[in-house]
Amino acid sequence: MELILAPLAEITSTEFRKLCYEGGADRCYSEMISAKALTLKNKKTFKTASVDTSEPKTFIQFFGSDPEIIKDAVSKVLENTTPYGIDINAGCPVKKVVKQGAGSALMDDPAKLGAIVKAVRSVTQLPLSVKIRKGFKTPNYLKCALVSQENGADELIIHPRLRTEMFSGLSDYKVSLDLAKVLDIPVIHSGDIRCAEDLEKFEGSGVKGAMIGRGVLGAPWIFDILKKRTVEKERKRDMMIKHFLFYVFHKDKKWAHTMMRRHASWYSSGKNGSAEFRNAVFRPEKTVEDTVKDIKNFFKIKL
Ligand SMILES: Cc1cc2nc3c(=O)[nH]c(=O)nc-3n(C[C@H](O)[C@H](O)[C@H](O)COP(=O)(O)O)c2cc1C
Repeated sequence: MELILAPLAEITSTEFRKLCYEGGADRCYSEMISAKALTLKNKKTFKTASVDTSEPKTFIQFFGSDPEIIKDAVSKVLENTTPYGIDINAGCPVKKVVKQGAGSALMDDPAKLGAIVKAVRSVTQLPLSVKIRKGFKTPNYLKCALVSQENGADELIIHPRLRTEMFSGLSDYKVSLDLAKVLDIPVIHSGDIRCAEDLEKFEGSGVKGAMIGRGVLGAPWIFDILKKRTVEKERKRDMMIKHFLFYVFHKDKKWAHTMMRRHASWYSSGKNGSAEFRNAVFRPEKTVEDTVKDIKNFFKIKL
């Protein structure tokens, strides 16, 4: 089964994706990119929408509500960078996105979802996936999946929770199994994959791949673990140090400090004294230097 890094806003940047490939990911997704911001030529958004040539199989994910705008955004991005594939976000539950008629709001407007898929298909022959939820308030994943397939999607990714469920409870993996029986295109499941046993329910089914989202935080080596490969303590440590060093030497100190704090708190999870460490690291008065010192002491490493 193909193991894929899920799109995670403000997390699945180039450097994080590279770390995940090192940790065994077969494919990675960028964070969601605003089609509107791209057409307004937002420089930062263009940078976020770029893929490094060393990345073997990275999809760029777009969100928006206007087929023409998404089409233009995809065309513009493809002039600058070469992803392996393109993805359309029809699952984001965040108010700011839903209010624009984008993300999971598209689940309530299958005709518009179809028009978006068709528009994107018309400007690229790259692999095209569509990421949906189970529905907005009520399940209508089948309709949305079929519309995506009919309009040219090559793959369907499902996070089987309603928008109203946000991230609560467990995702309904049976929906992924059902979809795989009905669709002609491959289905990828996204939701609550944390250990190899979580993948067993898909064995012998048509589900072709699984995405890992929250399970990757503080564990970019999770893909190898899911593949039942041994991951030595030393290797985990080396990957974590490499990750921190990326931020230590980053030009944008403010951004790097925020990211370092977040990732440090995830890496500390489950370790002795992690709650105190997290409290210390997130104190607003802390400088980058303080955070580096806290990290060195807590993880007993040199940076
Ligand atoms: C912090 C965070 C950011 C996310 N950002 C995105 C995003 O940009 N695009 C998207 O399609 N899904 C996004 N998701 C949803 C995940 O891709 C995934 O479908 C969901 O978290 C369920 O998988 P998991 O249980 O493995 O985390 C996000 C989830 C989280 C927790």
